[in-house]
Amino acid sequence: MKKINFVSIVLVAAFAALPLLATGASAESAKDNYGLYCVQCHGLAGTGGGINAPHLGVAPRNHTSAKDMGELSDANVATAIKDGGLSVGKSSQMPSFKTVLTDAEIADIVKLLREKCKCEGKKKK
Ligand code: HEC
Repeated sequence: MKKINFVSIVLVAAFAALPLLATGASAESAKDNYGLYCVQCHGLAGTGGGINAPHLGVAPRNHTSAKDMGELSDANVATAIKDGGLSVGKSSQMPSFKTVLTDAEIADIVKLLREKCKCEGKKKK
């Protein structure tokens, strides 16, 4: 009986430690999430040429363009991803991802987009 209890305690401790192991993998998860949710429209390279792009009324943003992405603040980018294009006065063809991505995952994607454009977000006035 005592032995079983010890095993369960070790198991519980191991599972509790799992999230600790997962930290530091956020850049990796941003790439995975981008590959899962964004490439259909924004393209594998992020240039806006995904397989859906020709069928949309508005061209998906080119995430590698420092000119286009530099116009947007990080907060604007995060809101566009979370609440969709309409929430930032853009097209509804940019979907809302709030039901599939957490705020932390969205923040990591914003960082990934800043690497793609090699640009900084516009500072709010
Ligand atoms: C169904 C197609 C589609 C998918 C999927 C999609 N987007 Fe978009 N996205 C668009 C379109 C179209 C626009 C351009 C909207 C406009 O200019 O009016 C856009 C615009 C954007 C913008 C610019 C917003 C702005 O304020 O100008 C960002 C940032 C963005 N998308 C990020 C993402 C990310 C990150 C994902 C994946 C989590 C994603 N998009 C998935 C179609 C899509």
